[in-house]
Amino acid sequence: MRTMRSFLAYFLLCVHLVSSPNNAFASFSSSSSSSEAKALLKWKGSFQNQSQNNLTSWTYSPSNSTNPRANASPCNGWTGISCKTIGSVNRINLSNSGIQGTLRELSFLSFPNLEYLELSFNELHDAIPPQISSLSKLIYLDLSSNHLSGQVPPEFGLLTKLEVLHLNDNKLNGSIPHEIGQLKFLSELALSQNSLEGVIPASLGNLNNLISLFLHQNQLSGSIPASLGSLSNLTTLNLHRNQLSGSIPPSLGDLTNLTFLFLYQNNLSGTIPEQIGNLKSMVDLELAMNQLNGSIPPSIGGLSNLVFLYLRDNQLSGSIPQEIGNLKKLTVLELDTNQLSGHLPQNICRGGSLQNFTANSNQLTGPIPKSMKICKSLVRVYLQDNHLTGNISEEFGAYPHLYIVDLSRNNFYGEISPMWGLCPQLATLRIAGNNLTGSIPPEIGNATQIQALDLSSNGLVGVIPNEIRSLTSLLSLNLKGNQLSGHMPSEFDSLKDLEYLDLSTNRLNESIPSILGNFSKIHYLNLSNNKFSQEIPFQLGNLVHLSQLDLSYNSLEDQIPSEISQMQSLEILNISHNNLSGLIPKNFEQMHSLVQIDLSYNQLQGPVPNNKAFQEGALEGNERLCGNVAGIQPCNKHSSKTDRRHLFLIVFPILGTLLLVHAVLAIALVGKRRKTEQDTGQSDVQHKEVFSISEFDGRIMYEEIIKATNDFDALYCIGKGRSGSAYKAKLISGSIVAVKKLHPTLDGEETSRKEFLNEIRALLEIRHRNIVKLRGFCSHAHHSFLVYEYIEKGSLASILSKEYEANKLDWSTRVRIVKGVAHALSYMHHDCSPPIVHRDISSNNILLDYEYEPVVSDFGTAKLLNPDSSNWTARAGTYGYIAPELAYTMKVTEKCDVYSFGALALEVIMGRQLADFMSSFSTSSANGDILLKDVFDQRLPLLHRKLRMN
Ligand SMILES: *[C@@H]1O[C@H](CO)[C@@H](O)[C@H](O)[C@H]1NC(C)=O
Ligand SMILES: *[C@@H]1O[C@H](CO)[C@@H](O)[C@H](O)[C@H]1NC(C)=O
Ligand SMILES: *[C@@H]1O[C@H](CO)[C@@H](O)[C@H](O)[C@H]1NC(C)=O
Ligand SMILES: *[C@@H]1O[C@H](CO)[C@@H](O)[C@H](O)[C@H]1NC(C)=O
Ligand SMILES: *[C@@H]1O[C@H](CO)[C@@H](O)[C@H](O)[C@H]1NC(C)=O
Repeated sequence: MRTMRSFLAYFLLCVHLVSSPNNAFASFSSSSSSSEAKALLKWKGSFQNQSQNNLTSWTYSPSNSTNPRANASPCNGWTGISCKTIGSVNRINLSNSGIQGTLRELSFLSFPNLEYLELSFNELHDAIPPQISSLSKLIYLDLSSNHLSGQVPPEFGLLTKLEVLHLNDNKLNGSIPHEIGQLKFLSELALSQNSLEGVIPASLGNLNNLISLFLHQNQLSGSIPASLGSLSNLTTLNLHRNQLSGSIPPSLGDLTNLTFLFLYQNNLSGTIPEQIGNLKSMVDLELAMNQLNGSIPPSIGGLSNLVFLYLRDNQLSGSIPQEIGNLKKLTVLELDTNQLSGHLPQNICRGGSLQNFTANSNQLTGPIPKSMKICKSLVRVYLQDNHLTGNISEEFGAYPHLYIVDLSRNNFYGEISPMWGLCPQLATLRIAGNNLTGSIPPEIGNATQIQALDLSSNGLVGVIPNEIRSLTSLLSLNLKGNQLSGHMPSEFDSLKDLEYLDLSTNRLNESIPSILGNFSKIHYLNLSNNKFSQEIPFQLGNLVHLSQLDLSYNSLEDQIPSEISQMQSLEILNISHNNLSGLIPKNFEQMHSLVQIDLSYNQLQGPVPNNKAFQEGALEGNERLCGNVAGIQPCNKHSSKTDRRHLFLIVFPILGTLLLVHAVLAIALVGKRRKTEQDTGQSDVQHKEVFSISEFDGRIMYEEIIKATNDFDALYCIGKGRSGSAYKAKLISGSIVAVKKLHPTLDGEETSRKEFLNEIRALLEIRHRNIVKLRGFCSHAHHSFLVYEYIEKGSLASILSKEYEANKLDWSTRVRIVKGVAHALSYMHHDCSPPIVHRDISSNNILLDYEYEPVVSDFGTAKLLNPDSSNWTARAGTYGYIAPELAYTMKVTEKCDVYSFGALALEVIMGRQLADFMSSFSTSSANGDILLKDVFDQRLPLLHRKLRMN
């Protein structure tokens, strides 16, 4: 009911609105003014929207009812209406008034004196009525930027006073009526941006007064009528983006006032008429994107006002006329994608105005002309894909405004000029595919704005300069296909915005630096065909935007880091032709974006991940892979179920840990003391320049390690501790070792030295699965270091601190870690004589191997580092793991390790250090209550059900 009523109310309101103006004028006499007012109000009443807001003045106003007639005249303050004489409208200007309507409801006959009709930028639609021709005094008609459709009425030909006709930017179709040619006073004709088709009527040539002719962006076809050559007042002729064919009429050369000639994007053929050279006023000549052939007429050198010359994408041949060098105002010259040959004009930058010169994809030969080498105005230079030659290093390169330069794929030779560094605006430098030699000059680092640098496919040698670090704007770096050598400098670290890096096909060696993992925006990384060795850094897993990774044809080894599976955008992975071994990480199954994979020719083994990209990938040359893939042996069914019995330990993790602690203590108290006699006299300590105790030849090992770590370069550093820094070194034998370089204090007095060395010998004897193997010790005037086996996954502390890694340490793995450390301690405390005390058990000293088996590192070194080894010592150990009694008494017993072990076990359960936990605990919960479930590492799922069952 309510809707019905409101509908009726609305209906009545509308009837009232529509009828009232008519009523108001019913009493008026039929003067011209009142018929104009009626016509305008009728038209306004036909508008679809309520945009009449703009036209509130167009109405009968009751407050002026005393003089209704004066008010009713449109000449009295109606918006957009002007009158020449009182009572006769001569101008309607409603441009941009938001009108939504048609011209059908406008009674043109009512405006016998109208001279200006301006309705542009509205939403007028439907056709232009032929009756518009009754506006016989019309001088100016602008209907542009509306939605008018239908044809251009031939009746326009009757508007013989018309000087300006703008119908551009509508939806008009059909052809241009030849009657337009009768508008002999026309100075501006704009029919552009419609859907007009057919030919340009030759009659337009009669428009003697025409100054601008805009017919661009239509579907006009046929040829350009030669008659247009008679439009001697024409300054602008714009016919671009049509389907005009045939050749450019030589008569256009008669248009001596022509300033802008736009014929681009048509199908024009034939040659450029040499008469074009007569157009002395020409500023902007655009003939690009046609099928023009023949050569560029030398007469073009006569266009002394020419600023812009666009001839690209044609079939022009012959050489660029030297006369172009006469064009002193020439600023933009585009000649790309033609068949031009010969040398560049000597004076090409004679006027010193040339900014943008593009002539790529031609057959140009010879050197860069001298005028261009010193042309300070240059902004953009594209000369790629020609046969240009000459020594690129000579002078080429100090331009204050130069922004883009591409000289790729020519025959330039010589070295890269250090002058490029003197182009402060340079954003793109490409000199790929030439015969460049020498090394990359460090001065390139001065071009700090550079975003794209492409020096690929040349003969560059030497190392990548460290100055590369200054190019912090770099987005794309391509150095592929040279003979660059040395390692990838750690300075790459500062190229944080890099999105594209191709260093393939060079002679780069050593390891792939882990800093590549910091390139958070990179999506293309290609290091293939180099001499990179050692393992793939797991940090590459951080590159979540990477879509293509190619590390093929190197000497990479060890396992594929499972972190690679974190690259969720990776589509193409090629690590073929390396020495990678081990299993393909199982979590690769989750890499859903992968479409193409090549693992061929490695030593990979085990099952192929169950993922389409892997099943269809190139896997050949890995003899020990298995799976349901054609050409590969099926896998043996062997259940790798985790030992479910471990799970019960999780049930009461705290209790379990305490039990373990007690077990260790119990063993400590009652365990049998097995004394293994040490044969201390078996080898004499040799006092050479290099002193060593090891399973290898000491001197050779010393030299190898110095070499492998590049004299302890920070690049190889894998960790720092109190006693020294650890380095990773790859020996010639292929084995990888961790080298702990000790602080120099060690070379102490001779008296304590003997005892110290005996201890090292004792440590060398230890063989336990959960204790890192000490493989040797070297001492030299410069360095003393301990050599350990290398444990792949790094420290427990670093793994627990990373969310992704910590999630992989499930509860059963954590139990295994705690048990492993207990085994190691038990062995050192009870099976060694004298017992060896670690004194610094902490998550930093527990390393994990590939199977997450814990390995205690640095056993005994705390004591070794204080050679005056009494049991009363300065405090060793790490805050948070030190037994309180040791902190006060400084007495060293096995019990210190047991206390630290307890702290460690809790840390494994909680996922954070006991000290951190205690401090947050004491501040957060006032009453001291804490729930067991809040103690567990929150990153792992809780095992509620298991808890209840027990
Ligand atoms: C009424 O008409 C007078 C002139 O006749 C004009 O100045 C005035 O602005 C008009 N008032 C209204 C409300 O339109
Ligand atoms: C009419 O209205 C439109 C918006 O509807 C506005 O942009 C324009 O400026 C107005 N014109 C006049 C003459 O008030
Ligand atoms: C050029 O236009 C002027 C008026 O602007 C006119 O007088 C003259 O006749 C025109 N030129 C020609 C050749 O028609
Ligand atoms: C055309 O050029 C002539 C002389 O070059 C000049 O007198 C005349 O004003 C120009 N016409 C227009 C419309 O610019
Ligand atoms: C020259 O090229 C630059 C870079 O492409 C461009 O930004 C600029 O607009 C061009 N200048 C002219 C005058 O066309």
